[in-house]
Amino acid sequence: MTRTRSSRHIRSDSRRDRHFFLRRQAAHREEEDPQSGSSSHPLCYSNLKMSTKEKLISHVMKEEPVGSQTKVTVVGVGMVGMACAMSVLLKDLCDELALVDVMEDKLKGEAMDLQHGALFLKTHKIVADKDYSVTANSKVVVVTAGARQQEGESRLNLVQRNVNIFKFIIPNIVKYSPNCILMVVSNPVDILTYVAWKLSGFPRHRVIGSGTNLDSARFRHLMGEKLNIHPSSCHGWIIGEHGDSSVPVWSGVNVAGVSLQCLNPKMGAEGDTENWKEVHKMVVEGAYEVIRLKGYTSWAIGMSVADLVESILKNMHKVHPVSTLVQGMHGVKDEVFLSIPCVLGNSGLTDVIHMTLKAEEEKQLVKSAETLWGVQKELTL
Ligand SMILES: NC(=O)c1ccc[n+]([C@@H]2O[C@H](COP(=O)([O-])OP(=O)(O)OC[C@H]3O[C@@H](n4cnc5c(N)ncnc54)[C@H](O)[C@@H]3O)[C@@H](O)[C@H]2O)c1
Repeated sequence: MTRTRSSRHIRSDSRRDRHFFLRRQAAHREEEDPQSGSSSHPLCYSNLKMSTKEKLISHVMKEEPVGSQTKVTVVGVGMVGMACAMSVLLKDLCDELALVDVMEDKLKGEAMDLQHGALFLKTHKIVADKDYSVTANSKVVVVTAGARQQEGESRLNLVQRNVNIFKFIIPNIVKYSPNCILMVVSNPVDILTYVAWKLSGFPRHRVIGSGTNLDSARFRHLMGEKLNIHPSSCHGWIIGEHGDSSVPVWSGVNVAGVSLQCLNPKMGAEGDTENWKEVHKMVVEGAYEVIRLKGYTSWAIGMSVADLVESILKNMHKVHPVSTLVQGMHGVKDEVFLSIPCVLGNSGLTDVIHMTLKAEEEKQLVKSAETLWGVQKELTL
């Protein structure tokens, strides 16, 4: 894009000229009368009306600086939003972080607290405001705003409360970052990803739900505990709905390419003496247990979101189980979002991987899809 020289350029040019003129004048005066200055340095005398910054820094670039290239916005600075923000910062993923919330004091406090740690981070700017202009030109916008699950409350119960919040948030994000990738975290995440897709008008590859990336991480942690192997070497995919009706793909569970189901054909089924089914039950109940114990979940979802943001901003083409439009796949007929393995890069969610699912697993996916559609078709968007 070509730009005409703005008045800002002209102002900075004249400021620069004045600056050089004053430096020359000062140096000249020092030459003529070395005793005249209050110090031996040409700029260190008091009668010039230059700020310390002007004396210190000469702006040499004529064009506008390029500005932020990897800006991330987090909407909602609750427990989940701040865990996402912190995880993104500690992984050095963005050159600018913007925070938005409706609770002004909390927002300001969280932003200041992070800014005070700027010395220990590699992110140039941390900004916050309830006005969405602060989010302008974000590459990724992570939405964590909304009401949180109460103890014992199902994710689906939250839905209408959070849809109403999204009706305000999503158009504002679109207004200021029309090319961003939207990452939905608020629950029920699969339905709200559909809602965000509808409200944004974005193509499907730019609206992603954090989905079962977290459920799969929980599964791999528990598998690792059972085998005493690090989760990164324990491979297993939880797909479908984030939460209650998620589907463990037992046929794909492996370590170093060795299928555990080949070693234990009853894996995941009734009658398995090692009770692997319990591992998936613990994945589903894990979130409820953490909420019962500490009131909310935060760290694992924060790290899981940062993992997704990393794949996007670094254009990694890594495969993650995240929520995407699955209509027409695995027998799903409805317009719903569910998690399947997807390729993430800097264009967003570019490809999906066709899993070889068993009939029973596809049946479970279709059942989840029908449940979600039952809720979605009642929503007023
Ligand atoms: N997808 C997942 O795996 C996953 C995991 C954990 C939590 N969650 C969900 O994340 C969401 C946030 O959870 P939390 O524990 O951080 O809740 P929280 O109550 O601590 O924070 C929610 C924040 O959203 C803000 N908010 C409300 N309305 C807003 C609006 N219109 N604009 C901007 N901000 C607004 C609130 O002021 C609050 O700061 C919940 O929906 C929760 O269920 C999802």
